[in-house]
Amino acid sequence: MAWTRHLLVPIALLAVAATPGESRDARGWRPRPGPPDPTVLTRQVPPQPVALPPAVAERVGRRTLLVYLSTHCPHCVRVMPEIAALSRRVSDVADTLLILSGFSGEEDTESFVETWKPSFPVIRDADTAFARATGLDATPSLLVVDPPLAGASEFLVTEAWLPYSRGVAAVLEMRIRGEPMAVLHRGEPVGVLACSACHAEEARAWFVTAHANATWAVVRKQRGDDLSCLACHVTLLDRTSGPEAGVFGYRPGEARSPFADVGCEACHTASGPHDGDGGDPRAACARCHVAGHGRFDPDPGLAGIDHFQAQGWTDEAIRKQRLERAQGLLPRPFADLPDGPTVGASRCAACHEVPARQWRQTPHARAMEALQGPGTEACVACHATPGEETGAWRTDESVGCEACHGPGVAHAEDPTIPLETCKSPHPECAVERVCVRCHTPERDPDWSLRTALPRVAH
Ligand code: HEC
Ligand code: HEC
Ligand code: HEC
Ligand code: HEC
Ligand code: HEC
Ligand code: HEC
Ligand code: HEC
Ligand code: HEC
Repeated sequence: MAWTRHLLVPIALLAVAATPGESRDARGWRPRPGPPDPTVLTRQVPPQPVALPPAVAERVGRRTLLVYLSTHCPHCVRVMPEIAALSRRVSDVADTLLILSGFSGEEDTESFVETWKPSFPVIRDADTAFARATGLDATPSLLVVDPPLAGASEFLVTEAWLPYSRGVAAVLEMRIRGEPMAVLHRGEPVGVLACSACHAEEARAWFVTAHANATWAVVRKQRGDDLSCLACHVTLLDRTSGPEAGVFGYRPGEARSPFADVGCEACHTASGPHDGDGGDPRAACARCHVAGHGRFDPDPGLAGIDHFQAQGWTDEAIRKQRLERAQGLLPRPFADLPDGPTVGASRCAACHEVPARQWRQTPHARAMEALQGPGTEACVACHATPGEETGAWRTDESVGCEACHGPGVAHAEDPTIPLETCKSPHPECAVERVCVRCHTPERDPDWSLRTALPRVAH
């Protein structure tokens, strides 16, 4: 198999393998199956009766959020700022009562209150009466309860979030208020889970794009704390401090944040277009897809984010694609080398004397020697440079300039036409992609860009 077909993926492939006859709009998107349905959020399940222990019952005078936490569980600590913000937002229609699980000791409870200074009462379920009455066995959980109907003694559970996870606050508020759209306020981000509540089809499609892998791509490189990287690899960074820190944006270390990855609001702005003009989402691309950082092209780019591409996909297929993406196995059309004829290292060297001298000192310039002979097609794909034609190889120069810089015919003719790769001051995104085509886990299990690049950089 020729290198061009084997290792390089032309940009046209970005408009994913379409089944014949499948129609596309001008953007390259599949037809939209139908408008989103906000009524999914107002459909109520029948309220469940529950007998609350006196310590809780006496504090439920009207609709109340019963938040069940443990001072020992790290997830609980992470949802606290969001719960506190939610409590404030819905205080016109609901009270909040925080119930610490029996595992939380008296001292823990005191220091918890000291730390969070909640604006709502906190009690301790020391005798586990609450847990037993409600059957709750995991924290953090959240129940919304209404007082008993006249003549009855049992309270009514109208919402049960078991467990409560980051990012559902807006959905919960929509359900409590029964007016979903009224919860979206211009400039107040809600996170991808809340958008997905109505836009389920768009969310499934987003899930299989590279954007839904963006934070992991950085974390995987041990750069998850680096704000300069995260700026383009999360939906929106949180720069606040105080009790709401982390509620309206991503903070390093929070893999499960609703603002991790390049979510809806990265392109559609906070709360989307729902409370005013969200602007043109096409204008957002240039913020992150900067020049020299992959060869971004708006047209295939737009096709690559088809919001309806996952129609008919099984959950299993979506999971598989996500896994392959996370492992770096899927093509990256903007980052992979372009296709085309090459001119050979000697032409490049004529104008680039210093890099050429340095290159000759590297193992790349002798990579063919390792094959001890002409090598088979399967070997030269990584030990030589693509030739003038598809399937031809410049075995005489081994891993030459154009094996890394891509074909240089146009640039060699007219140096003002830039080459398309390896010129970015952004090693992780652009440069490593070039290397790992050959330095695969099988061939080079100990690969690390940080140690390898200085050995070949010119
Ligand atoms: C409560 C349900 C609901 C939620 C939550 C919701 N949307 Fe929508 N969205 C809708 C409905 C309904 C429409 C109108 C659909 C139509 O075009 O007929 C819509 C339309 C849109 C449109 C198209 C607007 C246009 O001018 O064509 C965009 C973009 C959008 N939503 C983005 C978002 C984003 C981003 C979020 C999360 C911040 C979000 N939506 C949350 C219900 C919702
Ligand atoms: C200016 C915005 C921007 C900044 C800053 C940025 N990136 Fe990227 N990164 C991108 C874009 C855009 C892509 C996708 C390029 C493509 O495939 O076309 C990307 C791709 C990547 C990939 C490849 C993803 C994969 O699935 O293999 C990695 C890894 C990566 N970036 C890591 C980093 C690291 C580490 C930093 C900080 C040193 C960083 N990025 C800073 C925008 C940025
Ligand atoms: C990478 C940027 C980006 C992300 C992330 C993104 N969108 Fe979009 N969205 C766009 C663009 C671009 C359009 C097309 C606008 C146009 O055609 O003018 C669009 C269109 C839409 C539309 C209108 C549908 C249509 O056919 O035009 C809806 C609804 C929408 N997006 C919702 C969402 C939701 C919900 C999410 C998150 C699950 C999301 N988008 C994530 C960029 C994005
Ligand atoms: C907040 C930053 C950000 C914005 C805004 C953004 N992107 Fe991206 N985009 C990224 C990052 C980061 C990646 C790489 C993620 C990965 O591979 O892990 C990426 C990857 C992609 C890819 C896959 C590229 C490949 O080589 O596989 C496409 C297609 C894409 N973006 C299209 C768009 C379009 C179209 C827009 C505008 C409508 C847009 N993006 C807006 C950050 C962004
Ligand atoms: C006729 C002389 C000439 C030839 C032949 C030539 N270059 Fe260049 N190259 C230049 C000049 C001049 C610049 C600086 C252009 C600028 O700064 O605008 C440059 C810039 C570059 C750069 C850095 C800027 C960028 O666009 O990335 C790289 C990398 C590069 N050349 C690689 C190569 C390779 C690889 C070859 C062989 C395929 C090659 N050049 C052939 C003259 C040449
Ligand atoms: C996917 C790309 C790839 C393919 C295909 C490939 N190699 Fe390699 N090969 C490499 C890389 C990368 C190294 C350097 C590994 C390292 O740095 O540890 C290497 C190193 C070697 C070495 C060791 C060189 C030395 O001096 O230590 C030999 C021998 C070798 N390859 C032979 C082969 C043979 C024979 C084939 C065909 C059956 C082949 N390779 C196919 C990428 C490849
Ligand atoms: C193993 C891959 C590889 C090979 C082979 C290679 N280069 Fe490079 N080259 C790079 C990388 C990576 C960079 C960017 C380094 C960085 O940003 O730190 C680069 C940068 C350059 C630059 C820009 C330097 C600058 O100061 O901006 C030129 C010019 C260049 N290479 C020319 C060549 C020429 C000519 C050859 C062949 C004689 C060659 N390269 C072979 C990977 C390679
Ligand atoms: C076209 C395939 C190919 C590309 C692209 C490539 N390499 Fe290599 N690289 C090889 C092969 C093959 C060897 C082994 C050469 C030998 O020892 O005979 C090698 C060897 C090396 C070595 C020496 C390893 C050792 O253990 O001695 C380093 C360092 C290296 N490459 C770094 C890089 C970096 C950094 C990049 C990206 C900028 C890169 N390579 C891109 C094929 C490639």
